Amino acid sequence: MSANQAFHQLEANISGILASHQDYRTIIDHVRPHLQELLTNEQLVPEDLQVPLPNKYAQYLLYRPENESFAVIAFVWGAGQVAPVHDHLVWGLVGVYRGSIVEKRYRREDHGESAEPRYTIREVSEVTATQGDISFVYPPDYDIHGVANPFNEAAITIHIYGTDIGKQPRHIHDVASGNARDVITKHDNTIPVFS
Ligand SMILES: [Fe+2]
Repeated sequence: MSANQAFHQLEANISGILASHQDYRTIIDHVRPHLQELLTNEQLVPEDLQVPLPNKYAQYLLYRPENESFAVIAFVWGAGQVAPVHDHLVWGLVGVYRGSIVEKRYRREDHGESAEPRYTIREVSEVTATQGDISFVYPPDYDIHGVANPFNEAAITIHIYGTDIGKQPRHIHDVASGNARDVITKHDNTIPVFS
């Protein structure tokens, strides 16, 4: 199946899921097999986009339906490239398309209104994910992670979020201090690769 066809099929499938489910975890469970299938599509990421950028991981919007109810993004991780610890504030799935990544998961522990610091961010797990592996994020408790490619080869991950994550106001967390700063991480392309 061409990537175009695959994305139109995906849109039909996700529209059906979103029409009958609101719970983030339920949506994720239903979207997961569709991402699994997408990861087997050899045409998903054009070859010129598979080359890592020199300074930072690359973030390419692959597909976004008209109503922006979800978006599919390819992240290209050069050797040693890292995404700082961040949240999403929406449901999302992360699948490995090429190579391997290390994902560290964090849990926010709230200390109450008057506490200083207000909360701490605690690391709860570290997983090395390889081709075909899928993980997920959703607020409030499964939303914070950091992703890195500490390996010698480039890696590509395919993410599906319940909004256009390139416009989503969210946070980067400083684990040591517990401080968060507001961030919007824009895509490295302006027009989706597929439509
Ligand atoms: Fe993330």
